[in-house]
Amino acid sequence: MKSIVILISGRGSNMQALLEARLPCRIAAVISNRADAKGLNIARARGIATAVVEHRDYADRNSFDAALADTIDTYQPDFVALAGFMRILTPDFVARYHGKLVNIHPSLLPAYSGLNTHARALHDGVKIHGCTVHFVTPDLDHGPIIIQAAVPVLYHDTEQSLAARVLHEEHRIYPQAVRWLCKGQIELSEDGRVIFQNRKQASFTMFSPGLE
Ligand code: GAR
Repeated sequence: MKSIVILISGRGSNMQALLEARLPCRIAAVISNRADAKGLNIARARGIATAVVEHRDYADRNSFDAALADTIDTYQPDFVALAGFMRILTPDFVARYHGKLVNIHPSLLPAYSGLNTHARALHDGVKIHGCTVHFVTPDLDHGPIIIQAAVPVLYHDTEQSLAARVLHEEHRIYPQAVRWLCKGQIELSEDGRVIFQNRKQASFTMFSPGLE
């Protein structure tokens, strides 16, 4: 059975969705760059091994990433899932886990990489927003896309209501992506494309706000 390590920085709701999804893999550990990350308690309560590598204890990104990689490697995972892990990773770290490192981001990438995705989507007046799971490359919040979920932006949405609608879908697509990975049903090709074994696809159009 494959195993994964999950990296978090805070609340850990995506991590929790992965823990609750009965994935066909072993969750070897949850690692955080902050000792006060709430998600650590959720993992501990489920008997999952946890570790903390405080980024503030390291002089620079390279030394933090090296310590993080050493900690990850003690668990020998097949895959590493970033679940709200809010640190920019160095190219060396990303290269070390090439094809094994995935991330979830609260926007339809390549739109709205970075922070405050929901506020920026509302400000721009987009009518469809969503979330993305992708393989990680050295470019922040970019990389070959595995799965996306789109949600409508509603007339009365606030940043909070839109975030909640997107988060609900994050909790559905991340377990799906990790399930595919662990079952060997997707992989990253040499030229940086996601190869799917199961090529079933959705075949409908979403209109937002909708046709009359
Ligand atoms: C999630 O919305 C995740 O997509 C986002 O942080 C949140 C973490 O929440 N990640 C990023 O913005 C990565 N660029 P969680 O700790 O409850 O999973």
